[in-house]
Amino acid sequence: MNVLSLSAIQKPLIIGHRGFRTRYPENTLASFQAALDAGADMIELDIRLSSDGHLVVIHDAEVERTTNGEGPVISYTLAELKQLDAGIWFHPRFVNERIPSLEEVLDLVRGRGLINIEIKVEPDHVFDANHTIEQKTVELIQRKRAETFSLVSSFNKKILENISQMDHPPAIGVLTEYDEKQDVVTLCKKLNALAWHPQYLAVDKNQVLLMHEAGIKILPYTVNSKEEIEQLFEMGVDGVFTDDPIMAIGCSGL
Ligand code: G3P
Ligand code: CA
Repeated sequence: MNVLSLSAIQKPLIIGHRGFRTRYPENTLASFQAALDAGADMIELDIRLSSDGHLVVIHDAEVERTTNGEGPVISYTLAELKQLDAGIWFHPRFVNERIPSLEEVLDLVRGRGLINIEIKVEPDHVFDANHTIEQKTVELIQRKRAETFSLVSSFNKKILENISQMDHPPAIGVLTEYDEKQDVVTLCKKLNALAWHPQYLAVDKNQVLLMHEAGIKILPYTVNSKEEIEQLFEMGVDGVFTDDPIMAIGCSGL
């Protein structure tokens, strides 16, 4: 199956960061549905492993901030995570919203848009021989035949390297922090990446030109003001991650 290609895009992509985070509880099906309904081209989410090896959609390593539970995500089975309320912390009308599995979100997005799956691991992450989280992610994308609409990213370069060396890897996005000083063209080429995902304040017009000359797309994160989105569109970026897709869709340059 062909992997995602952004070569045909005519305008910058609007990427709903954790769905539609300004108006919905982040990383929930309600949030992803709302972002797609609003017209986002792609949704972004964060994945982690449950204790029984399922890929679940949650940003933090602990469940406290975005659910009514406590403790590390990795200490819960998928069934236990599904008991938690992932919506009421945001607003009572989202009571009973659940932590989705990655598989559920792939089913939601299919035929409606694109998905950026960010693999989250902690700085002290220990790699095992099976590269568990990245291996499971790629296997799921392949089993669901989701290669054409999936882009896999991570701040962890070892995870990306492992994916790039697998058979038939999905499209790769390289995440970098604002203060990460390195030659990103070389890094993205080494990882055979489709896109570079920089912190948006680290982007300038010259860098956009360099990346485009190298055939690499630029998708800066996470931009929540109209003025800054329009400046990035002026520079020629290929899309932006935003918590507010409706605001971004209203920006000139689209
Ligand atoms: O993928 C872009 C952005 O989501 C990375 O930062 O902390 O929001 O996951 P964070
Ligand atoms: Ca993320």
